[in-house]
Amino acid sequence: MKAAYLMRHGEAKNAFEIRDTEKPTITPSQILIKVEAFGLNFADVMARLGLYRDAPPLPSVLGYDVVGRVEEVGDNVKDFVVGDRVTALTRFGGYAEYAIGEQGVVHKISETLSPGAATALSTQYSTAYFLAFNMANLHREDRILIHAAAGGVGTGLVQMAKFKGCEIFGTCGSEEKIEFIKGMGVDHPINYRTRDFEDYLGDEKLDVIFDPIGGNSLKKGFRSLSAGGRIISYGLSSMNQAKSIFAKIKVLWQFGFYHPVQFLSRSRGIIGVNMLKLGEERPEKLTRVMKEVIKMADAEILQPHVGGEFQVEELAEAHAFLESRKSVGKIVVKW
Ligand SMILES: NC(=O)c1ccc[n+]([C@@H]2O[C@H](COP(=O)([O-])OP(=O)(O)OC[C@H]3O[C@@H](n4cnc5c(N)ncnc54)[C@H](OP(=O)(O)O)[C@@H]3O)[C@@H](O)[C@H]2O)c1
Repeated sequence: MKAAYLMRHGEAKNAFEIRDTEKPTITPSQILIKVEAFGLNFADVMARLGLYRDAPPLPSVLGYDVVGRVEEVGDNVKDFVVGDRVTALTRFGGYAEYAIGEQGVVHKISETLSPGAATALSTQYSTAYFLAFNMANLHREDRILIHAAAGGVGTGLVQMAKFKGCEIFGTCGSEEKIEFIKGMGVDHPINYRTRDFEDYLGDEKLDVIFDPIGGNSLKKGFRSLSAGGRIISYGLSSMNQAKSIFAKIKVLWQFGFYHPVQFLSRSRGIIGVNMLKLGEERPEKLTRVMKEVIKMADAEILQPHVGGEFQVEELAEAHAFLESRKSVGKIVVKW
């Protein structure tokens, strides 16, 4: 089979090679999937840049989500037959013609769901669900701020918060994206390139902030919480501009320093989320989250937006597009 290998860290145009390799073999609890398309996640960009600690050593096959057809089922796998159309979480290995999924994170989907929407459900929308409903426990009339609101996870969070009836502040980095998030129902769209979100908020205080940026953004967010407020910290995008070790230390420093007594006395907190760790330590939670997300998509409460479809030969362009910060929603790559 063919797989797209990450050969070297750095710019997308020199990073990948499509190579022949062995078709993977499954264990009794696994499912082999003939991949129709795989999705990109921002973590893939971080891995390509050599900034992602959990990424496998080079040369490696990245990829967290695929859509395709069941090719083979392990002896202990129930409820799947060869030919089922599925979306799956893959812990790397997704940029390939065949990929393996553990049965708990493979889910059947309709024949009509687009490849981009299907892959978004497995990763970004499952992440958004866990953040919104498990960690933030959103309620009607919560006033919330979603950073990178036009992105993969961001659009999922917006749709989930709309469903809950929250008042939504959302940031993004261009006027085109402002129009896009307005269209999704964000009540207070903020272009952070022309207006600092803290300045926009003024004296307004928030119940929940979803922060994938880190550094200074998190520190400012903490100042913007009301009693009962919490920041869900789930990414470190600001690190990808920190080229030197000093710049990296600066980003970490900019997070600020906190003591639990501060959380207690001011009744607010910071919650960190890493879905990889959740999958490793509590895989049953991931299974439940994915099931709920697929149910919400079947009910058309969630409708992932697909912002770009590429062919595998255009993988470098797809990566560069996600890195450019111009993309909206999910980026997907087809075989
Ligand atoms: N913790 C977890 O388990 C987990 C799981 C999934 C995703 N994540 C994180 O969630 C975030 C979103 O992931 P995604 O795949 O859905 O990507 P995405 O949001 O579709 O794309 C990234 C977006 O982030 C925004 N951004 C803001 N500051 C940035 C910066 N300094 N550098 C680059 N981009 C910046 C850009 O939009 P604007 O400029 O318009 O804001 C960009 O389009 C990422 O940080 C990712 O690592 C974490």
